[in-house]
Amino acid sequence: MHPAAKLRALLKQPGIIKAVGAQDALSAKLIERAGFDAIWASGFAISASLKCIPDASFITSSEQLEVERNIAEAVSIPIIADCDTGYGNALNVMRTVNDRERAGVAAICIEDNVYPKRCSFYAGVRRELIPIEEHCGKIQAAKAAQTVPEFVVIARTEALIAGWGQDEALKRAQAYADAGADAVLIHSKSPTFDELRTVAKRWSGKVPLVVVPTIFDGVTAAELEEAGFKIVIYANQMVRASIRAMCDALDVIKQDTRPGSVNDRIVKLKEVYEIVGVPQMEEDEKKFLPVG
Ligand code: SPV
Ligand code: MG
Repeated sequence: MHPAAKLRALLKQPGIIKAVGAQDALSAKLIERAGFDAIWASGFAISASLKCIPDASFITSSEQLEVERNIAEAVSIPIIADCDTGYGNALNVMRTVNDRERAGVAAICIEDNVYPKRCSFYAGVRRELIPIEEHCGKIQAAKAAQTVPEFVVIARTEALIAGWGQDEALKRAQAYADAGADAVLIHSKSPTFDELRTVAKRWSGKVPLVVVPTIFDGVTAAELEEAGFKIVIYANQMVRASIRAMCDALDVIKQDTRPGSVNDRIVKLKEVYEIVGVPQMEEDEKKFLPVG
């Protein structure tokens, strides 16, 4: 079964799907072990973790794809790949889709930012969107290119982020749904959930709504579900958690100089072994290596 079929099954079930942003295979594995439904292969987190660079189309499609492949090997829950603008025009989007299908990714999300995109929350950068027709062409191209019938294409609009208002955001979301998108993500950087609650209320489209509550972070999954959202993405909390944990441990080691000074804030080696599959490797050794 292609992982996209698993995502389709989740979409049919009642309840909100909880996807968490991963930056690599390890974080994805932890997300799966914690019982979340899906992985968000986050452009923001992968840019930060893989290259320590801004989320501004500096990561190439292949660099992002390599991380998605690593994640796909490590987990069996569905992966939603954050493919930014699709890495070019509608024809580039087609290749992006086929690459992701082959990599075992269940869904892609493509936003209507002009290439090169900038993270939705960077304050001092230019913000331009491509025309609606052009993004519809990308969505149509994505749907035409897919060979896995269950593959999910999420269309994302940055209309609210760009300050173009709710009418434009809803108009774009509807146009993208009409172009064949399987779900739409209307992104918002409002400090409260009020804006998107209203947008969701006004949404009369047939496809499910996806939400990324990064800035309006006081909202619960139950409130999002109640408002009509089907997928919630906790996009960057894992990479931010790892930065905090690493900085805290570095502070302690720098002061104390004993490696054990951080024992109360790090996992035991055995836990790492378990996460990466050492017990399985030990069993395989016993089974398959010649007795020495
Ligand atoms: C990402 O994680 O890269 C996203 C979500 O696109 S956000 O950063 O909230 O825009
Ligand atoms: Mg992104």
